[in-house]
Amino acid sequence: MKHSIIVLAAGQGTRMRSDLPKVLHPLAGKSLIEHVLDAASQLLPEQLYLVYGHGGEQVKQATSAYAVRYVEQSTQLGTGHAVMQAMPQIPDDHRVMVLYGDVPLISLHTLQQMAQLSDALGLLTVKLENPSGYGRIVRTLDDQVLRIVEEKDADISIKKIKEVNTGIMSVPAALLRQWLSALKNDNAQGEYYLTDVISLAVQAGIKVQTFTPTTLEEVQGVNDRIQLAELERYYQRQQAHELMRNGVTLRDPARFDVRGSLETGRDLLIDINVLLEGRVKLGNRVKIGANCVIRNAQIADDVEILPNCVIEGATIESGCRIGPFARIRPETHLAAKVHVGNFVEIKQSTVAQGSKINHLSYVGDSEVGSQVNIGAGTITCNYDGANKHKTLIGDQVFIGSNTQLVAPVEIGAGATIGAGSTITRNVAPGDLALTRSPQKSIPNWQRPVKKPK
Ligand code: UD1
Ligand code: CA
Repeated sequence: MKHSIIVLAAGQGTRMRSDLPKVLHPLAGKSLIEHVLDAASQLLPEQLYLVYGHGGEQVKQATSAYAVRYVEQSTQLGTGHAVMQAMPQIPDDHRVMVLYGDVPLISLHTLQQMAQLSDALGLLTVKLENPSGYGRIVRTLDDQVLRIVEEKDADISIKKIKEVNTGIMSVPAALLRQWLSALKNDNAQGEYYLTDVISLAVQAGIKVQTFTPTTLEEVQGVNDRIQLAELERYYQRQQAHELMRNGVTLRDPARFDVRGSLETGRDLLIDINVLLEGRVKLGNRVKIGANCVIRNAQIADDVEILPNCVIEGATIESGCRIGPFARIRPETHLAAKVHVGNFVEIKQSTVAQGSKINHLSYVGDSEVGSQVNIGAGTITCNYDGANKHKTLIGDQVFIGSNTQLVAPVEIGAGATIGAGSTITRNVAPGDLALTRSPQKSIPNWQRPVKKPK
């Protein structure tokens, strides 16, 4: 059976009170609509349609990576009208699956079950303790679905029904086309309701088969920022549980967030308030201290990251120790067993095996050799006000504290730089270079005293 999937995303999302279209608000670092398109794409439909209205250009731009056909619904006349906009492009022998752009966590498993139908109309419903706001599923005495009544059109007895329409359905295209053309908008909201196709199906003798999602959150819509935050927490909890099942210790799963894709080894230890963003890979036995943010980074086995570090776009090899309070910026590569200590910033640099940059330093646009010791307060002056320049530091160099290395400059292997130097010229291998003036002493120095007033 061939499938066309229509994702409805034309509504304004007034309750978000946002200039950003609702479906572009992020959940775990990915927009709502991308969550839906990811699930939909995994079903391998023949074609995926996105019905847009408000914020169309933004929505198109944000979803340009997907193989989507965009369909405009310029005025929002209801969910039935929205689906109708895509129908001219859909062949009669397809089944049409309708999804909502603001129901982000729908699972592939649920969609697959509904996709197995051939003739019947499939409808995803749930029973809710508090069904208010939703369309109610009206059944016959022998439990056959009869129709859906929207909250605003419901009388007291219908409002008591707890089974509600999630909005997600699957219908043979040829029948849907007929039924949509028969829709009327003589209801409380003056809209063309997609839900009215249910009673048309019943009249035509087509079976309506209902499905239940595995979890309620799967069909939870996002209408405001409170619901968005609730789904975010749910999603984060799911991810945290999955990680713990895979051998990661989380000191507190409620204080841990992943916004992106994460690959992990075994026996990791992650302390509280850690945020992992983008593509992050963590090897075996990696330890991450409290309050670290790690984005798009590869971190090998046995790396220890102490509290309060920010690491982005870096590759960190095995056995490194970073932090506390270190910042590792993009295009940095730390080889095995490098130590980077507190208040150290490293940008676009490579540091070879076993080198130590332990305190209060800036290393940028540099190549640092192995077994190098960079003393406290060392600065690579990589920027001359117009251009960036490189600093090259050979193996086993020792750089004394409070040194400025004015790039471009090269320090040969085994060289020593005296503390407090400003190095502006290359230093040959094995040399000692220092630029400070000789120390002098004036005996019995009298400090100035305050004049009487
Ligand atoms: C709809 C269902 C209701 C169901 C509820 C589940 C109808 C008539 N009612 O109600 O039975 O319980 O969803 O959440 O279908 N949209 C468009 N164009 C439009 C109108 C809506 O694209 O003209 C999109 C919205 O952006 C949204 C989705 O369709 O993604 C649902 O629209 P919404 O107005 O939220 O429907 P409800 O009134 O909540
Ligand atoms: Ca809604």
